[in-house]
Amino acid sequence: MSRIPLIAGNWKMYKTGPEAIETATQLVRLCTDVQDMDIMIAPTMLSLPLVAQSVQASNIKLGSQNLYFEKEGAFTGEVSAAMIKAAGAQYAIIGHSERRQFFGDTDALVNKKIRAALSCGLKPILCIGETEEQRDAGKTFLILDKQVSDGLKGVVLDELTDLVLAYEPVWAIGTGKTADTLQVDEVHQYLRSLLENLFSKTFADSVRILYGGSVKPANVADLMGIKDVDGALVGGASLDADTFFNIINYNS
Ligand code: 13P
Repeated sequence: MSRIPLIAGNWKMYKTGPEAIETATQLVRLCTDVQDMDIMIAPTMLSLPLVAQSVQASNIKLGSQNLYFEKEGAFTGEVSAAMIKAAGAQYAIIGHSERRQFFGDTDALVNKKIRAALSCGLKPILCIGETEEQRDAGKTFLILDKQVSDGLKGVVLDELTDLVLAYEPVWAIGTGKTADTLQVDEVHQYLRSLLENLFSKTFADSVRILYGGSVKPANVADLMGIKDVDGALVGGASLDADTFFNIINYNS
């Protein structure tokens, strides 16, 4: 089954509104001729509607870095899935390890956020990944199994067509250490078979599984060459339009 690659940039808590507009505008210009690939950027919530204007009528899609699962209400400081969608986003990154680490996002909370995204027609990018300690203790698959199973608990196959999975080993994020191709290959194959066991083979074959963690122009081609890698979730190297374009354009 052919899966269109997705190269996604997670801008984390970087860039003011004007800075986000500037980078997005440069990216639109650089990416005009890119075909057969989905490109997404996820600026801060504040910049979503601004960047939506910059990428309008281009081949660059927008995503949020998080959302809150309630529809609306007295939840000071939070933003709902419907608000994100209305701001122009199509994707929502959910369960990023920085959310899990610094903001208490548990698998149960991640599950509620996934459901909220799906109910609004936002494509969720479910992030999973083990810490160095968990890998050293031989618990990588156990952790990933729990993050996927609990994150998708109670969601039926019909609702899940737009799911994207992102494997981001915590020890590779922002560290310059990339998982080697054998490690990535092993985990991505495992994740696809896990999806097959939880849902179906047809579904598992259709889901895009991204790799994230110190992806750069120098390593992206090797990573994208791995059979079950369908794209990348890029942090630091997505902040500069030229560098990010070199990742997107890895094939040329
Ligand atoms: P880096 O590419 O900076 O390692 O970040 C990866 C990441 O967390 C993307 O979501």
